Amino acid sequence: MSGKIVRIAIAGVGSRGKNAYGLELLNMKDRAKVVAVADIDPERLALAGDAHGVPDEMRFPSAEAMLAMPRLADAMLVCTQDRQHVPHAVAALKKGYDVMMEKPISPKLEDLQEITKVARENGRRVVVCHVLRYTPFFQTIKKTIDSGVLGEIVSIQALENVRYWHQAHSFVRGNWRREEDTSPMILAKCCHDLDYLVWLCGKKCERVSSYGSLMYFKKSNAPEGAALRCTQGCKAKESCPYDAEKIYLTNKDTGILCGNVEWPIDVLAENPTEEKIRHAIETGPYGRCVFHCDNDVVDHQIVNMQMEGGASLSLTMSAFTSIGGRTIKVMGTLGDLWGDMHENRIRIGVFGKEPQVIDLGKEEKDFAGHGGGDRLLMEQFVDLMQGKEPDGTITTLETSVESHLVALAAEKSRLENGESIEIAPMRG
Ligand SMILES: NC(=O)c1ccc[n+]([C@@H]2O[C@H](COP(=O)([O-])OP(=O)(O)OC[C@H]3O[C@@H](n4cnc5c(N)ncnc54)[C@H](O)[C@@H]3O)[C@@H](O)[C@H]2O)c1
Repeated sequence: MSGKIVRIAIAGVGSRGKNAYGLELLNMKDRAKVVAVADIDPERLALAGDAHGVPDEMRFPSAEAMLAMPRLADAMLVCTQDRQHVPHAVAALKKGYDVMMEKPISPKLEDLQEITKVARENGRRVVVCHVLRYTPFFQTIKKTIDSGVLGEIVSIQALENVRYWHQAHSFVRGNWRREEDTSPMILAKCCHDLDYLVWLCGKKCERVSSYGSLMYFKKSNAPEGAALRCTQGCKAKESCPYDAEKIYLTNKDTGILCGNVEWPIDVLAENPTEEKIRHAIETGPYGRCVFHCDNDVVDHQIVNMQMEGGASLSLTMSAFTSIGGRTIKVMGTLGDLWGDMHENRIRIGVFGKEPQVIDLGKEEKDFAGHGGGDRLLMEQFVDLMQGKEPDGTITTLETSVESHLVALAAEKSRLENGESIEIAPMRG
């Protein structure tokens, strides 16, 4: 379908489907068009339908209703919640859609095998949204490694700085707080990190060990006088950085009173206003005390990976950081590289030479949406749909499955007190 406008259906028009990819697609009108949308939330459905000019008969009250129709588009974006991805994507593949699906594919090993089989049997393409690969930051690191200046990669140390308020928002009060409803946090939050680690190293992972726990966000750590909700006369409010009014009203990065109306504010209310946000904090899940929620996912975890050929990689994920984003150190036989994604700076130290500092922030690039990754992923998916040869960045189902196997092995290891888990038997 070279050059033709790609017709796209979106299942789930929430934060990712409507805002992240939906908005990117509005900037690509000459190459792609959203022709059908589905969501169980009528307000979101109407907003997304209106934004893309989708006629009423192509707006569906659920992904299931959309998937009951004959094929309506060339590709489907599956942007529903974690445990829905495989049922929705498998049905779409069987209907003949190519699929771009949100991560994680699934927390179940048998689902990874099932979707791989269905995609193969139906001759369809599946791209998984590992947005970090596409960022100028990780693209620069990958090119540096592949150029050979660092020699052979021996170690990589990566840190995912979740950030204190992001942990509270998504993993204590929000959608990803309970494993049985979503996935273990090492899969939900870190499948991107595990994906880029395997991709950067260019080798398969042989075995994994892991430790971690939910150490802080639980009742036993509630300060004296803590109320069940931040707005119900909490006596610990002043000194608590997790106070919902601080995060959603007055924090300079996230608060609506500081002008922020995007994520995470728009998760509390569509078209947010101060009044709507105050109401959400007073009555909804995002106003609960972080020590009195029903969360069970970890707030810190480390993963050690032994790669084919002997390299060792480690990832630390921690809630307890003031700034978000990734930091990474790559160590090779001829040099090392250090990078800070938040600052968009990379320092390359070839042994015996003056270090080179690359300040990507000074280049005129658009870093909105996962450091620019959302837009570049969408562009590459449309490229793929228009028949362009994908480069090594594109995260096909097969490559994404590798990161999921590492995450599932890490979770198994964590639950078995750091037992070493072999990956090969999981590949099936
Ligand atoms: N790639 C990334 O970097 C990235 C970042 C954040 C979230 N995610 C993933 O994206 C997915 C969506 O996250 P989100 O933040 O957009 O969540 P969200 O809750 O804002 O959006 C999900 C939408 O799916 C809708 N939905 C639920 N059941 C449905 C059904 N049966 N049919 C149609 N729609 C249905 C919901 O009403 C909601 O609007 C999650 O799996 C999440 O883990 C990926």
